Amino acid sequence: MRVLIVGSGFVGQAVAAAVERDGGHAVLASRRPVPGTARWVRLDATDPAGCAQAVQRVRPDAVVAVHGPSDVTWCEQQPAAALAAHRDATRNLVRALGRTRLVLISTDNVFDGRSPDNDEETATAPANAYGAAKLAAEAELAGHPDATVLRVSLVYGPETARPGKRTNFAAACVRGWQADEVVPAPVDQWTTPVHVADVAAVTLAAVRGAPPLLHLGGPERISRFDWAHRLAARLGYPAALIGPVTRDSGPYACRPANSCLTSRLLPASLDAWRLRVRGVDEGADGLVAAVAG
Ligand SMILES: NC(=O)c1ccc[n+]([C@@H]2O[C@H](COP(=O)([O-])OP(=O)(O)OC[C@H]3O[C@@H](n4cnc5c(N)ncnc54)[C@H](OP(=O)(O)O)[C@@H]3O)[C@@H](O)[C@H]2O)c1
Repeated sequence: MRVLIVGSGFVGQAVAAAVERDGGHAVLASRRPVPGTARWVRLDATDPAGCAQAVQRVRPDAVVAVHGPSDVTWCEQQPAAALAAHRDATRNLVRALGRTRLVLISTDNVFDGRSPDNDEETATAPANAYGAAKLAAEAELAGHPDATVLRVSLVYGPETARPGKRTNFAAACVRGWQADEVVPAPVDQWTTPVHVADVAAVTLAAVRGAPPLLHLGGPERISRFDWAHRLAARLGYPAALIGPVTRDSGPYACRPANSCLTSRLLPASLDAWRLRVRGVDEGADGLVAAVAG
């Protein structure tokens, strides 16, 4: 199976690795080349002609749309650019694809965060400009005959630091602690964190077939502060290196109180796919070695 993955970042690269491990053929696409990636095509997905050319060139059996911008704070400051990047790029891909299967990776920020339980039937109310842009992208799939919106909660796992990109919360904690720094962790922002390897496995399964809308969150709802404590305890760092802050401070100000996803459909889908989603303790294992250096 040949899969075109639009977005070569943290999640896109994990999906590509899962496709390759499965014996498939993954082609990553983004505006800038990705070092060490054999199969990559240059694509600005906001360019309609570029999308058509990439699809013609790669001739994918399926496409995964997992491109940025992923920085919620940046989106809040640049709402028009965020909308263009998410809605317009998805529209371009839908037009270029015809009937080719499409999986769009979306977010829990399409909910306002007042409730901890956001399943596939919960009414959307975007929490911020990022959530609004992703919801507009989701709407573009209405005209596609074979598409799935896979809404994913906060993704974490080993992630290489890149200039201009904030690494995921768990990796940032470990990197900070390795430098003996106190890492700020909100006491009043809850997530259902999901390990990047589980996101990749579920995305690959969804490429083969999934409901039109599916939520993927981890099995635990936890505040970032409590999560940092679980990570530190598991990995042997002192709790003194966790600084309690509130959500209204720093980069968390535009995040919903609850960045949480539940699902009516995921348990049956996981059973059918013979997959499971790990909790935060198991997800911590391997982080130190992967983040070191
Ligand atoms: N990470 C999470 O916790 C999470 C959770 C839920 C949903 N998601 C969704 O997954 C997406 C990817 O997340 P991530 O963490 O992997 O982000 P990331 O590491 O920032 O990667 C984003 C990728 O998108 C590419 N990109 C940006 N603009 C593009 C454009 N116009 N055309 C083509 N490629 C473009 C970037 O490369 P260039 O800049 O070189 O083009 C980069 O390769 C997010 O935007 C979000 O919608 C992520």
